[in-house]
Amino acid sequence: MNKRPRILSIVGARPQFIKLAPLATEIALKCQHRVVHTGQHYDDNMSGLFFRQLGIKLPDFNLGIRKGTHGVMTGRMLVGLEKTLMAERPDLVVVYGDTNTTLAGTLAASKLGIAVAHVEAGMRSFVADMPEEINRRVADHLSDILLCATKTAMGNLKKEGIRKNVVYSGDLMYELLAKWRPKLASHDVLLRRFKLEKRNYHLITVHRAANVDSREALTRLIEVIEVLDRPTIFPIHPRTASRLRQFGLYRRCRSLPHVMIAEPFGYRDLLTLARFAHTVLTDSGGLQKEAVFLKTPVLTLRDETEWPETLRCGNHLAGMDAKRVSRLLKKPLRATGFSYLINRRRPSKIITKTLLDFLKGA
Ligand code: UD1
Repeated sequence: MNKRPRILSIVGARPQFIKLAPLATEIALKCQHRVVHTGQHYDDNMSGLFFRQLGIKLPDFNLGIRKGTHGVMTGRMLVGLEKTLMAERPDLVVVYGDTNTTLAGTLAASKLGIAVAHVEAGMRSFVADMPEEINRRVADHLSDILLCATKTAMGNLKKEGIRKNVVYSGDLMYELLAKWRPKLASHDVLLRRFKLEKRNYHLITVHRAANVDSREALTRLIEVIEVLDRPTIFPIHPRTASRLRQFGLYRRCRSLPHVMIAEPFGYRDLLTLARFAHTVLTDSGGLQKEAVFLKTPVLTLRDETEWPETLRCGNHLAGMDAKRVSRLLKKPLRATGFSYLINRRRPSKIITKTLLDFLKGA
């Protein structure tokens, strides 16, 4: 009889596939591991491509829940996840990050009395109405195991009175990137495709609700792009593209002579572009860390970051503010990189051991 613990991961959005990749390999060595994809991200270049490129086995279940307001999306996920969890009855559920998928996964499992482990617990922006902040707070307060990528995150949980089963696991995103780093160097053919010179172009990505959901915010974004002093590649998130069109600003953005708008890239292409850029400008939590890890300076297009550690290594808060961006670009920017190991151990190993120890004690 197979007595291996049964662990089920719930994912749905791009950054979750990235965190799943190294952890799935490690968990599968010791457990039965199944994966549910809610369908939150569904375009091939936002989803399928990541599974193929990162060698993640295809999800065992795909709920196909696409689009919708937050309530509709989360509600439909809850219904689908509850059904799957009742049929599967795993020993433990793993949720990742701060998306609507994280929220629905945590709620569905904890209501069924199934233990939940939250990867990337304790992150806070302290912006109360940010959708991700709401998702994080709920996930952290309902989870049974809190896997913190940073010490700051552990401190945040402590301040909220969460002390039990809080573990400093390190960051799975860095673990994956450390493995891929050598492969990026040999992929510079991509730069030729876009006629970009190493260290002489900018990479910009923007998708946060606060930066794209109003005409004012999008106008500020275009003002930022206008002051960029090098050729700029702009892989455009579907949400951003649709908002630019909705507010009649897409053409203005596309007609800027130094800007190349592209479809969203897969993991290897995006990280190669980040690796060789002069500067990365982004509002993505993941990309600001990844760029710094690759020693490329970052201007974060927000007023705060959940990753204050990166501010010491080459990340600068620029807001969505053309003047600040322009001022920062005149400075000699540098990024230093760092190790991702925690006491010489990989995050995926620490997390898997934590899950197994928890299940032994349960
Ligand atoms: C979500 C997460 C965000 C994360 C981001 C990574 C929430 C609240 N937000 O934001 O934390 O940083 O993923 O990208 O969960 N769309 C497509 N094709 C796709 C995916 C999305 O067209 O493959 C469209 C959707 O239909 C929707 C819009 O893009 O209209 C936004 O997608 P959604 O999943 O709601 O949020 P993201 O902005 O991607």
